[in-house]
Amino acid sequence: MSKLRIAVQKSGRLNQDSMKLLKDIGISIDNGKDQLKASAKGFPVEVFYLRNGDIPQYLKDGVVDAAIIGENVLIEKGEGINVVEKLGFSSCRVCIAVPKADQYNSIKDLEGKRIATSYPNTVKMFLNEHGVEANLHIINGSVEIAPNIGLADAICDIVSSGSTLFKNNLKEVDTILKSEAVLAVSPKLNSERQAILETIQFRIQSVLKGRN
Ligand code: PRP
Ligand code: MG
Repeated sequence: MSKLRIAVQKSGRLNQDSMKLLKDIGISIDNGKDQLKASAKGFPVEVFYLRNGDIPQYLKDGVVDAAIIGENVLIEKGEGINVVEKLGFSSCRVCIAVPKADQYNSIKDLEGKRIATSYPNTVKMFLNEHGVEANLHIINGSVEIAPNIGLADAICDIVSSGSTLFKNNLKEVDTILKSEAVLAVSPKLNSERQAILETIQFRIQSVLKGRN
């Protein structure tokens, strides 16, 4: 019998809430610390622990069938992947921020400037919408340090509590999009696995109703 292969974030902010949701819908997994794939007990599900940024490609290729992932990651590189459920946790926003002391009236102020980000496609979309041209520096983490070390004039990154911006003397000046965790599905899902997915979706809906 086939199993539904679900990807979750290996470590990071989504991981705990994702595992809690799986537990709440009756999918219990006891995996050793470094085991990257684990089977659920009494349910045809396998969980894959992956890096956030790798999950969209796994879904596109059909290597995993579904994933619990931040909507913002799909907007960045998840074309063709369907979102079937919003999960109501890990809310955040993708924002532009600049040094606290800088003047900022609109995105037009970033014309010709350097923006550091881990979300180049999202920033490009936003800049294009406003007819602004800027130079993007792609970095994969600790983006907020970039203005302080002279690498960029502005950043675009995820903001949740705002504490990272605050600690790095930056201020949020534009919100590009809002995001939360979602259940995303591979465009290559077959009908046998689709049936397992439907059971899971039904259970998730019940759990989320109970949480409100
Ligand atoms: C994420 C994100 C922001 C921060 C936002 O970084 O890239 O830097 O969290 O959260 P806050 O508004 O609550 O401070 P993370 O800590 O995951 O580290 P990384 O960027 O180095 O991967
Ligand atoms: Mg960060």
